[in-house]
Amino acid sequence: MSVIGVVSMKGGVGKTTTTANLASALAIKLGRGSVSVLDLDPQNALRWHLGLPDTQQGVCDLSRRGGDWRQVAFPSPFNVLCLPYGQADEIGRMAFEDVLEQHPRWVSDQLDRAGLKQNALVLIDTPPGPSVYLRQVFACADFILVVLLADAGSYATVPAMQTWRADASATRPNLGVYYVLNQVDRSDPLNRDTAAFLHQQLVSCICPVDIHGDEAVGEALAFTQPVLQYEPHAQASLDMTRLATWVLDMLNR
Ligand SMILES: Nc1ncnc2c1ncn2[C@@H]1O[C@H](COP(=O)(O)OP(=O)(O)O)[C@@H](O)[C@H]1O
Ligand SMILES: [Mg+2]
Repeated sequence: MSVIGVVSMKGGVGKTTTTANLASALAIKLGRGSVSVLDLDPQNALRWHLGLPDTQQGVCDLSRRGGDWRQVAFPSPFNVLCLPYGQADEIGRMAFEDVLEQHPRWVSDQLDRAGLKQNALVLIDTPPGPSVYLRQVFACADFILVVLLADAGSYATVPAMQTWRADASATRPNLGVYYVLNQVDRSDPLNRDTAAFLHQQLVSCICPVDIHGDEAVGEALAFTQPVLQYEPHAQASLDMTRLATWVLDMLNR
């Protein structure tokens, strides 16, 4: 199994969008049953991107009750298996976070027991910033994708993420941590220059594929579909396919 964490210090940069759309691009390449997504964000929004709007149950509630994550592995219409966070009230969320605090390898252990294929790829969506969810992901991922916007606000968060990266490398020297730029707009001079600057600064740890800002992404979400299904020739669809190729390359798959 290969685990890919999708993280960022800032909200609204496109983690959930990237998780769902990259998973769908990977599933097109690898086939049914090969790609799963796990939602570790209490917003419970990932399922929407994959056409599962009515799913209420998820890993939050199940973990508190000691249940098997297999019970909440829902097949999506896009060949991606989806383990939602589930709907949770404050008490439920805090109880799950307690479980995660007590068991630093909880997510890793549950994924091992979830009946996924031996060579499955699992993408994990996370809430923004430092959290118990981020710690779980740094403990079990093989590869971390840090989503950034090409703006000063995202740039300001790079030092904090580099600290997580350095801390993780002490215990997990093989963990790959790479940045990816999202919502790039080459027609906007400031955005274009900031993107170029971030590539220059982050040289060897930034993904060569930028994801462009593309209205097809929002439209696809309105139809609860990945952009590759909604509009296969959209710029963002091409970007997701290229990103999937790069990720597989980096994982030697
Ligand atoms: N490449 C993109 N092009 C256009 N809109 C995007 C793109 N990526 C994300 N968005 C939009 O940005 C908003 C935030 O994305 P989301 O994935 O929810 O961010 P996060 O999970 O980091 O909070 C959503 O409205 C989403 O549709
Ligand atoms: Mg999100």
